[in-house]
Amino acid sequence: MIEKIKELKKKHNITIAAHYYQVDEVFECADLIGDSLELAKKSKQVDGKLIFCGVTFMGESTKALNPDLEVYMPRLGSCSMARMATNIGFDEAIKHLKDKNVDFIPVVYVNSTAEIKAKVASHGGLTCTSSNAKKIVEWVLSQDKKVFFLPDKNLGTNIAKMIGKTASIVGEDGFENTDIICYDGLCSVHQLFEVSDVEFYKEKYKDILVVAHPEAKPEVCDLCDFVGSTSQLLNYIENLPPEQKVAVGTEYNFVKRLKHPNTFVLSSTKPECPSMNETTLEELYNLMVAIDEGKPYNEIIVDKEVAEGARISLERMMELS
Ligand code: 13P
Ligand code: SF4
Repeated sequence: MIEKIKELKKKHNITIAAHYYQVDEVFECADLIGDSLELAKKSKQVDGKLIFCGVTFMGESTKALNPDLEVYMPRLGSCSMARMATNIGFDEAIKHLKDKNVDFIPVVYVNSTAEIKAKVASHGGLTCTSSNAKKIVEWVLSQDKKVFFLPDKNLGTNIAKMIGKTASIVGEDGFENTDIICYDGLCSVHQLFEVSDVEFYKEKYKDILVVAHPEAKPEVCDLCDFVGSTSQLLNYIENLPPEQKVAVGTEYNFVKRLKHPNTFVLSSTKPECPSMNETTLEELYNLMVAIDEGKPYNEIIVDKEVAEGARISLERMMELS
C-alpha cells in the first residue's frame, strides 16, 4: 500500500499533510507534518492536490487560505470542540455581550468551523492557534477591548492566567467585568487530565516534570512545569536531558511518538483523539486510488462567502503572528 501511495503521489502531484495526532502509519506517509499553525502556513506553498489527514476544520482552513488548491480528506472526522461552537450558540453569546454593552473583539481558536470563523471576521475578529493565542489576546487587550474567546474556555482561561488577566464564561454572573470572556466549549480529550494524575506522577517520581497542552483544565495547567502548544511541547521535551522524566498531558499518538526516552502519558485513560484516529492508512490509499480512477471524493468545498470570511480571520492572525 505504501509503495502505491508513493507512486500515486508522484503521478498526480499530490502533497499529503498530517497533523501530529494522526496514527503512525498515516503520519509516516506525510510530506508536511506539523501542528495546526505550521500546517496552515505550509499549505500556502503547495500546488497541485493536497490530501489533509486531520480533522475537518483543518481541511477547511487550508481551502479558505488556498481557494485554488484541490483539498481532499480521507475521512471527514470532526473535532468535538469545533462542533460545540454552533451558529446558534455564537449568536446567543454575541447577544449577551451586546446586552451588557461589552466592547469586544472576538478571537476564535482555529479549532472551529469555517462558518464560525467567518462570523468572527464579520465582527472584526480573528483566528488564533494554541501557539499564538497569547500574542493575539495581548494584541486585542492592547486595543482597549475585551476578548470574546471561543470555543475553548480552558485555553481562554489558561491564557488569562499566563498574562495576569481575568476570565469568565459568557452569560455567568459578572462576566462583563472580566478581560477575557469565554464561550463554554472544551476538548473532550484534553479534559481527561486531572489534578490527581499530576499528583500521582509527582509522588511517584521525585523531580519528574509535568507538561500539558493549554486545552487541559486550568487547575491541571497550574500544577504543570510547562504549558505549550503541540510544537512548543515537542521542542521543550526533545531538548530535555535523556534521564529527565516527563509526564505529558496531550494526545496519545503525539506522546507515544516522542523520541525522548523518559516520557509518560499523564493519564490512566488513553487520551486518544477519536476524530484524528479515524483516518486510517487504508482510507488514505482508497482516496488516492479513487483520484487515480478519476472518481475522487471528500473534496473540501467551502461556500465562497464563508471561505472569504474564514480567510480574512485567518489572514489577520497570520499578519500578527
Ligand atoms: P495544535 O494547535 O497544538 O496543533 O492543537 C490542535 C488540536 O486540535 C489540539 O487538540
Ligand atoms: Fe479537537 Fe480535542 Fe481532537 Fe484536538 S484533540 S482535534 S481539540 S477533539
